[in-house]
Amino acid sequence: MNLSIISSTDRPNSWSLKLSNYISRLYAERNVKAKVVSLEDFPLADVVGGKYGKEITSIKKFREPILEADGIIFVIPEYNGGFPGILKMFIDYLPFPGAFEKMPMAFVGEASGAFGALRPVEQFQMIANYRNALQFPERVFIPRVSKEFDPETGLVDDFKQKLLDSQVENFIKFVRDNS
Ligand SMILES: Cc1cc2nc3c(=O)[nH]c(=O)nc-3n(C[C@H](O)[C@H](O)[C@H](O)COP(=O)(O)O)c2cc1C
Repeated sequence: MNLSIISSTDRPNSWSLKLSNYISRLYAERNVKAKVVSLEDFPLADVVGGKYGKEITSIKKFREPILEADGIIFVIPEYNGGFPGILKMFIDYLPFPGAFEKMPMAFVGEASGAFGALRPVEQFQMIANYRNALQFPERVFIPRVSKEFDPETGLVDDFKQKLLDSQVENFIKFVRDNS
């Protein structure tokens, strides 16, 4: 099984990336490879001018982890009540309509605010829905991320950690059942 974890921001030193790396370790402990793709490295400069549908070499590296994945985990922060613009840009440069078709997807939200990126995850799910993705129902939301998450030990709250562990375990089964 081949999973990809999308760290959905280009903000340097982001919590999304720290969380993505931590989640990747949770999959590795279960003998599942989950490659982290950080949108921090998305070559924004190469798409200026709206080069939609054109062959752009530097974008390929961002398409392959999607096209070759059996399942994708999106780690999404909250920016102004939505998901980061770079995530939409990333999607708009994926092949249409096939990229997300019947693709198993799981979602983890994180924010400094109290709702743990519930809004951006649900906004993103509307797009995933339109693109016919298979959305895994166990979502995890992490509020006050800098206090509630430790990159080494995980979530401070035991209940939240159990939710994340459960998402990991059950998403593996979900991907297996749908591939
Ligand atoms: C442009 C921007 C907008 C933000 N807007 C919100 C917001 O609407 N709600 C919220 O709870 N946090 C907001 N934050 C704080 C982020 O959710 C918080 O810093 C989060 O940990 C950022 O994730 P990151 O480290 O992955 O970038 C915002 C941060 C940035 C950079």
